Amino acid sequence: MAFKFARLAALAALATVASAAPATVTCPTGQTTANAACCALFPIVSNLLQAQLFDGGECGEEAHSALRLSFHDAIGFSIHGGKGGGADGSILAFNQTETAFHANGGISDITDEQWPIFLESGLSAGDFVHLAAAVGTANCPGAPRLKFFLGRPAPVAPAPDLTVPEPTDTVTAILTRFADAGFSAAEAVALLSSHTVAAADVIDTTIPGTPFDSTPFTFDTQVFLEVLLKGTQFPGVGNQPGEVLSPLVGEMRLQSDFVISRDPRTACLWQAMVDNQALMTSSFASAMAKMQVLGQDTSKLIDCSDVIPVPQALASPHIKYPASFSQANVQIACSQIPFPSIATVAGAAPTVAPVPGS
Ligand code: HEM
Repeated sequence: MAFKFARLAALAALATVASAAPATVTCPTGQTTANAACCALFPIVSNLLQAQLFDGGECGEEAHSALRLSFHDAIGFSIHGGKGGGADGSILAFNQTETAFHANGGISDITDEQWPIFLESGLSAGDFVHLAAAVGTANCPGAPRLKFFLGRPAPVAPAPDLTVPEPTDTVTAILTRFADAGFSAAEAVALLSSHTVAAADVIDTTIPGTPFDSTPFTFDTQVFLEVLLKGTQFPGVGNQPGEVLSPLVGEMRLQSDFVISRDPRTACLWQAMVDNQALMTSSFASAMAKMQVLGQDTSKLIDCSDVIPVPQALASPHIKYPASFSQANVQIACSQIPFPSIATVAGAAPTVAPVPGS
């Protein structure tokens, strides 16, 4: 009798496991996915995005810009209404309008590159913009595997101007704008992890492709450390709007990153990321999952996250001070948590090379 009950319990447990396990479909192209509707995305990911847009799967200029584009698209939204449709692809579909906004300086490079590939893909503009961002980010070693949901309808109108934060904005203005779009201060800082794979083209147009940290091709926490180093020089022709002194030759520091890293509301959120790759990637992935469906009816979207390539892990997730720097150069702005102990790269202070193709 006891054996019979045990066997019944085991069968019931198996049935629960079987019903909880997602069914997988094998696509005509050979890959597996949880939903047959996602099969059409595999050739788009490999043939159009990786091969054409991202030059064979690089974490380069186009991958960086595709990530920036997803933010500038989605943030055109307010939880109180009266702004744009959020993550709807309006920045691509209505690029003539939105790329003219001041905060979208330089964005036309990526909308121009994406446009013919978007038309070929047959996807809605929102699905294309946010798929490209997730795939491009996956090309950066250390990045989390972002989610992708399919099924955004075509955007109905461009977002209005003045929804995208500017590097010259105050912390209050930036946090107010993020809150209006539904993001907390912690989520705003998490989203700024993106500046670890980033460079500026239009802040100082004499030095296109000037990176925000010394490792713009890896999704590491280096940007959180380097923004806290005391600034000493400008990388180009001198102080431009939105720029503050940077610690490394060839590196650009945004005024917005600088003030957010030192403001009492955000300094500890910033410092907590400095040597915590797991915290940075998990909080970035959560905030991106929210951002990339902002304003969308998620009950109508299909989870196609399994089409996103698995990013390469970092061999060593522990960052280092650039050569010649140490904690003596850090402007600590958070006293509530200890500053992590970090080793220094050997040698002379580096010159940060520009991101090619910018
Ligand atoms: C306070 C909010 C933010 C401000 C003020 C800001 C500002 C900027 C500026 C001024 C640039 C350089 C533009 C240029 O000169 O070419 C830039 C680049 C970039 N931003 Fe942000 N950003 C913010 C938040 C974000 C967020 C939330 C994301 C993504 C989730 C993001 C992703 C990027 C990326 C990836 C680049 C590099 C693009 C490239 O290298 O082509 N930014 N940002």
